[in-house]
Amino acid sequence: MKRFSICILACALTLPLITAFSPALDESETKKSQFIEELLSKMTLEEKIGQLNLISSPGDVVTGPKKGEDLTNDIRSGRLGNVLNAIGIDYIRSLQRIAVEESRLGIPLTFAFDEIHGYRTTFPIPLAESCTWDPELISRCAQAGAQEAAADGLTLTYNPMVDIALDPRWGRISEGAGEDPYLGSLIAAARVRGVQGEDLSDPLTIAACLKHYAAYGGAEGGRDYAAVEMGERRLREHYLPPYKAAVEAGVASVMTSFNLYDGIPATMNKFLVDQVLRTEWGFKGVVMTDYGSIGEILEHGCAETIAEASRLSLEAGTDMDMCSGAYIQELKGLVESGAVDVKLIDDACRRVLQLKYDLGLFEDPYRYLNHKRAEKIIYSKENIALSKLEAVKSMVLLKNDSEVLPLKKSEKIALIGPRCEDTRSYCGAWAGKCEPNRIQSIADRFAKANIVSPEEADKIVCVLGETHRMSGEAACLTDIRIPADQRELLEKMCALGKPVVLVVMAGRPLDLTRESEIASSILMAWQPGFKTADALYDILYGAENPSGRLTTSFPRNVGQIPVYHYMLNTGRPATDGKNERYTSRYLDCWNAPLYPFGYGLSYTQFEYSDVTLSGTEMDANGSITATVTVRNTGKVAGDEVVQLYLRDMVGSVSRPVKQLKGFEKISLKPGESQTVDFEINEEMLRFWRADMTYGSEKGEFVVMVGPNASITKGVNFWLK
Ligand code: BGC
Repeated sequence: MKRFSICILACALTLPLITAFSPALDESETKKSQFIEELLSKMTLEEKIGQLNLISSPGDVVTGPKKGEDLTNDIRSGRLGNVLNAIGIDYIRSLQRIAVEESRLGIPLTFAFDEIHGYRTTFPIPLAESCTWDPELISRCAQAGAQEAAADGLTLTYNPMVDIALDPRWGRISEGAGEDPYLGSLIAAARVRGVQGEDLSDPLTIAACLKHYAAYGGAEGGRDYAAVEMGERRLREHYLPPYKAAVEAGVASVMTSFNLYDGIPATMNKFLVDQVLRTEWGFKGVVMTDYGSIGEILEHGCAETIAEASRLSLEAGTDMDMCSGAYIQELKGLVESGAVDVKLIDDACRRVLQLKYDLGLFEDPYRYLNHKRAEKIIYSKENIALSKLEAVKSMVLLKNDSEVLPLKKSEKIALIGPRCEDTRSYCGAWAGKCEPNRIQSIADRFAKANIVSPEEADKIVCVLGETHRMSGEAACLTDIRIPADQRELLEKMCALGKPVVLVVMAGRPLDLTRESEIASSILMAWQPGFKTADALYDILYGAENPSGRLTTSFPRNVGQIPVYHYMLNTGRPATDGKNERYTSRYLDCWNAPLYPFGYGLSYTQFEYSDVTLSGTEMDANGSITATVTVRNTGKVAGDEVVQLYLRDMVGSVSRPVKQLKGFEKISLKPGESQTVDFEINEEMLRFWRADMTYGSEKGEFVVMVGPNASITKGVNFWLK
């Protein structure tokens, strides 16, 4: 942590020096700007608008009403500058050739695709990835996915998705990093680093696109595309940080979200795009809409005509139109009638050309198109190994009574459930170009183990849960239990009176209340990707020790939603276990979630010492160190995620009961202990104060360190 901040500081200090004194950098920037300005000066208005147009190629995923059509005429005439969902080197080359050789100015195309958690080699779904609490590993996996996409000719991916989500009914919770803005920010930046690398023009890196800006995960009722209603303070404190972190990490493009924020569609929301993203955060890259969003402004009731919707979007700072066809249809007329200032189109077009320049496409438009490279990179041994590693690290052990897990080779095992063979579902939603036929099923992987019928078995393993179509976009639910027929199956198995291990595959946190009562062990496997079967085998048989920790709270039932660890205290806080009337609680359910944020078991146990502080008073320039010692008291080696939470006791606005502010993942052998230090400084205590300035306030704070967010014991210090 410390090393990281020193590096940031060092970079921040040296960057202006480099730009001021490095002639090479100056020269290349000048060259770039001259090239682009010269090109812009040659472009017709329609050609400029063409660069703001992105259309989906026929025949692939279309999530909105506008189907792809024959693109070649538009490419040739300069009316189309960017293509979505074109797959395959030869096809991409054929489109690029038309752009470069047959259009008037020969401006190359970008090729975009949703490579979210792998391209051919699928990695665990992003929510599962976040449960590794390992941004570096996530970055390496993002890099591997992007490399495969790049090797297949793509130049831009709609990754990372960093929407904070507190509502497991929302199907797209599977695509993000869970409920926490601090962890979410580290992961957002890690993904950008992974996808883009050091140099966008390297043919093994592609442009990342941050999405969905902003607060898409706050959809009312957990229903996709629904309105987002929250105050600016909540937006800024809990929802915006991961987007900001990705911008700071240098993300090349940003996608606006489908939702309204404060009654205004994100795509035409000047506050979000122009004020916060561009002005406050200084984002200089391309802003694009989501699929057909400009057209949807009419449905939102925020413009009467598509022309008006186009003008409002462009004026808000949205450069590129994904798949509504609105810009190419309307902007020319709007400029000619004087309704839109051509400068806005020049600015937007300039940003798109800059991106193409940075990708190296003007230098060599075919640089991403190389069959040999594709063969070497796609499904490479390294990528497959990485996928397995991440699958292992992302699974979360929720329950393990009487050490039913790990299984022993000598035990007779029954393996049942619909997910045993369903390899497509292992990859979850937005699974790139995954090929389910190439994926080994769980049933196949376990075939050589001691497999018998449930009646003969010593232990029963049930692999249950969701299909890949039950989470992701437009896959919201009001009942987040395991599907009914599978619950029945589990009941039957448990009625046999033998230990039952439940392996849950799902793209969202589920209501596992009943299962937690009847199953002996529960492993949340999520949707682990290409190496699902191997990873699961190794975990169940103990070759690997589960180390994943939840990044979302698991509710006891759907009525408890939202439940998350940084809630406010209320004026009548309730104590679980106490039936006190007139406190903030339900009559039929405790307040604490079934499994808290940060939670996860291991095949070993960890013991925490009390937290000690290096002092009890801190001034704004100082820091305090919180120290804890963690010991592995069990019989096998294991990983633990030591978590730091803070609470600000009194503020000009009410502060959450705890907030994650740091963590460290440690590996301990049996009997081994390690001391973990967290440095707390004033910056970590800042928030959006009553007057909407960002800063800390003096007073009392509580430090809590432990294995998950259910800890309440802490020590106090004062900011003077
Ligand atoms: C989704 C985006 C995705 C886009 C392009 C939209 O429906 O909301 O996340 O990137 O389609 O496929």
